[in-house]
Amino acid sequence: MSSYETLLVERRGRVALITINRPEKRNALNIQTRQEGAAALEELHADEQVRVVVFTGAGDKAFIAGADIAEFAGRTALTQRDVMTGRSLFTAIDTFPKPVIAMVNGYCLGGGCELALACDLRIASETASFGQPEINLGIIPGGGGTQRLTHLVGEGKAMEMILTGDIIDAKTAFKLGLVNLIVPAAELEARTMEMANRIAEKSPVALRLAKEAVKTASRATLDEGLRREMDLFALCFSSEDKDEGVSAFLEKRKPEFKGR
Ligand code: COA
Repeated sequence: MSSYETLLVERRGRVALITINRPEKRNALNIQTRQEGAAALEELHADEQVRVVVFTGAGDKAFIAGADIAEFAGRTALTQRDVMTGRSLFTAIDTFPKPVIAMVNGYCLGGGCELALACDLRIASETASFGQPEINLGIIPGGGGTQRLTHLVGEGKAMEMILTGDIIDAKTAFKLGLVNLIVPAAELEARTMEMANRIAEKSPVALRLAKEAVKTASRATLDEGLRREMDLFALCFSSEDKDEGVSAFLEKRKPEFKGR
């Protein structure tokens, strides 16, 4: 695995942990961090041993406090467009063929909230907080926030968060469905790894197809989504993992999925 300047990447068995490592800047996402994040995902994509990826932020203050605001100063519209053209880290997470979990350990704001929203699951410490405060800078969310937040929590609440820029606590985020689970800060890593490891035992083929099918729901009509689900369901029947899963059930043993 390559080494990165703004990230730490470690493998823990079948789970890879990517830690955004700029705690002195509350892990704000600068261009380098975004590029390194996308590059790390590409490496982890190719690594068959890795079945689940977890994103987190270094230190105990922030998951990610948003885009690096210092990079915005003096930036023109055209430069901003150039920066965002091409494959973004958020899209790389969204389309990553393995489950990605956000382990949220503090401020999860702006682009940080958008990164968490691009992940498949969000697990937060009780001390985490969430918000889209871009409006306070005279801008709007540009990393998918207006779309993914709306799909997740509904237009009313998304509109409220985006128009006010207010920061909400983890409990409120949980009630809104923005996070899947909240746990005491001291248990965050253990509980996240427990869930990641549980998912990592499933068939990588089925995980990939399940993620694709669920993601279709917010992007297609119901009829298109149902057709896509049927195709992906049928595709499962071409995998060795399906034969192993069915045999293991009938033989009353634990399946050993190989991702084929
Ligand atoms: N971009 C760039 N730098 C950031 C940053 C961001 N999004 N968030 C924090 N930082 C930097 C601060 O400028 C400061 O740098 P300095 O020590 O060189 O002055 C350092 O991180 C610590 O931040 P500080 O504000 O002192 O920490 P805090 O713990 O008191 O507050 C936050 C944390 C997250 C509440 C606060 O930093 C903040 O509001 N950040 C901006 C959030 C935001 O608007 N995000 C959306 C961006 S589009």
